[in-house]
Amino acid sequence: MKALVLAGGKGTRLRPITHTSAKQLIPIANKPILLYGLEAIAAAGIREVGMIVGDTADDIRAAVGDGSSLGLKVTYIPQDEPRGLAHAVWIAKDFMSGEPFLMFLGDNLIKDSLKPLVERFERDKPHAIILLAPVPNPSAFGVAELSGERIVRLVEKPKNPPSNLALVGVYLFDKTVFDVIPKLKPSWRGELEITEAIQMLLDEGKTVVYRKIEQWWKDTGKKEDLLEANRFVLMEMSKDEILGETESCQIRGPVKIGRGTKLVRCRVTGPCIIGENCHLEDAVIGPFTSISFKSRIIKTEIHHSILLEEVRLENLPKPLTDSLLGRGVQISRDGTREGSLILMLGDQGEVQL
Ligand code: DAU
Repeated sequence: MKALVLAGGKGTRLRPITHTSAKQLIPIANKPILLYGLEAIAAAGIREVGMIVGDTADDIRAAVGDGSSLGLKVTYIPQDEPRGLAHAVWIAKDFMSGEPFLMFLGDNLIKDSLKPLVERFERDKPHAIILLAPVPNPSAFGVAELSGERIVRLVEKPKNPPSNLALVGVYLFDKTVFDVIPKLKPSWRGELEITEAIQMLLDEGKTVVYRKIEQWWKDTGKKEDLLEANRFVLMEMSKDEILGETESCQIRGPVKIGRGTKLVRCRVTGPCIIGENCHLEDAVIGPFTSISFKSRIIKTEIHHSILLEEVRLENLPKPLTDSLLGRGVQISRDGTREGSLILMLGDQGEVQL
């Protein structure tokens, strides 16, 4: 079995972060989302991965390379425009060369092992397996209508969802999927939908089976989802790993502090992670906070947030919470312009006071 990982697309809901980089590379607990998926694929025993890339191909290549560090062999498959998940499958047809494959959406994070899915596919040889998870907001996903063990209908982002069971971004297919994709028409959002391709398999009487998620799953399309995913992953941390230096600090774990990082008079409450080569002074950090490398935090309190690399925060008058800060963001208060806010924000920047 091969894998197809989708790391193209635009990431419009995560602007401005995604103006300059791929949404699949936003770090969760200081590791790009995409790497979690690739690790899960390797752990399921798959070696050959086709990676769909778009505008952000260079960044994805820089982060993943040839995949050998993960025990994978990655082949890049450029997609000219994000024309839909089924289009991405179609352009991988030659790469798959008739083999079954596991398709993984590069912005999804899933705790369940992929191995039982692969084993079931190899044992039962259905035409497709889909994964389902109950969600509070099914209209934001593909949704399945079931009747007992049978899948009756699949609809993409329905206004009136027939159930609360969302399609998770992990699918297994055999080569039959390539027979239905040419029959698809672009949907209301102008894309060739994989959900409709699977519906066609059902209509043609092919065997499509499902499995329900047992642990957690997140589609990291929005800031709130990223923060929640970060919380889930940090909660799995069980022990401290302090490779940096701490001076007069109070640390309540689990906390990870990277090499070359120094904390002076800080209070850190885990779970949280601070990357390499950061400097923190008189700061209050955590819980559920990830700070990437080379950041500088002075006299500032941060909870439940994700900071990308080289962020600088100084003397913030109030705690920073539920926030996602992109690379090199700087926020400071020097006391000379009290009563004013002086901002330089990128397109689609967002500030809540
Ligand atoms: O996350 C699960 C959901 O993923 C499912 O419930 C939906 O049925 C499915 O359509 C999909 O919905 P999204 O609207 O969330 O998909 P999105 O456009 O975010 O794309 C998912 C990933 O695939 C993302 O990493 C970008 C990549 N992609 C997307 C498109 C449309 C591509 O590589 N090429 C594309 O053409």
